[in-house]
Amino acid sequence: MRSADIGLGPEGAGDAPPPGLEAARGAAGLSDLAVLVLREPEPRRKAEMARYAAARWLRRDIDGIGAAAPPDRPARPERPELLPPAKMPRRKIGAAPEGRIALLHAVAHIELNAIDLAFDMVARFAGVGMPTGFFDDWVTIGDDEARHFQLLDNRLAALGARYGDLPAHDGLWRAAMETADDLLNRLAVVPMVLEARGLDVTPGMIAKLSAAGDSESAAVLTIIHDEEIGHVAAGRRWFEHLCEVRGLEPVATWRAIVAERFRGGLKPPFNSESRSLAGFAEAYYTPPPEAGEGGAS
Ligand SMILES: [Fe+2]
Ligand SMILES: [Fe+2]
Repeated sequence: MRSADIGLGPEGAGDAPPPGLEAARGAAGLSDLAVLVLREPEPRRKAEMARYAAARWLRRDIDGIGAAAPPDRPARPERPELLPPAKMPRRKIGAAPEGRIALLHAVAHIELNAIDLAFDMVARFAGVGMPTGFFDDWVTIGDDEARHFQLLDNRLAALGARYGDLPAHDGLWRAAMETADDLLNRLAVVPMVLEARGLDVTPGMIAKLSAAGDSESAAVLTIIHDEEIGHVAAGRRWFEHLCEVRGLEPVATWRAIVAERFRGGLKPPFNSESRSLAGFAEAYYTPPPEAGEGGAS
């Protein structure tokens, strides 16, 4: 099932900036548009702004990348309340909508963070000399994340809920801040740990939603899973590109960065089928790197 079949086609998305952000028409470069995405607190407008930024860049309707600096933290709405991951309530997925709402709300929160992670990648590393293809990839990913958020927001509305109704966990931006010093570290952790983890866990969520009879929500998560393969692939490709530029061996370098910068550790079981579709070889993550493991960095 494609996005268009569940009421959210790509047609016309991103043609105009969202109301209140008309000043985006005068943005000087891609990084200026990215900063507008990051500074927008309202989730639906953030998603629309992301789609507008992507459309402008991908049709080459903006001059160059510019050098606008991203904020340390993206703007967030007052709700949801952010809790430590351990304090998040757990609900069973079943015929009653509450469990499904909780699941879709948690994924919507991840996608909202993913919009910011993509545009932070674009703005924070605007000046490190990456080729145009790098910006094309991350802008396309930011557009995907915005569409994923919109699809989930639509499903929440169909179930009588809304993003912000439930608490959400506050751990996601930490990984961004802890890898803000170097693009190699950011690529190693955000797409190659966090988004790859999404590939591992999403099939189980799809199965639970299907078993609960919610084929629409299952279809949305299937779209997300399939498109996240491309995000992991882009992260892996640019990580390996940067390793080559710096004369580093990719597998040992990745393992050393993960051991040093990702405190949570990797959690098997891994979805090696989806990971391999992203060109992410098992040699990277099997066995999972241990904290303090040596190697090149
Ligand atoms: Fe996504
Ligand atoms: Fe993603």
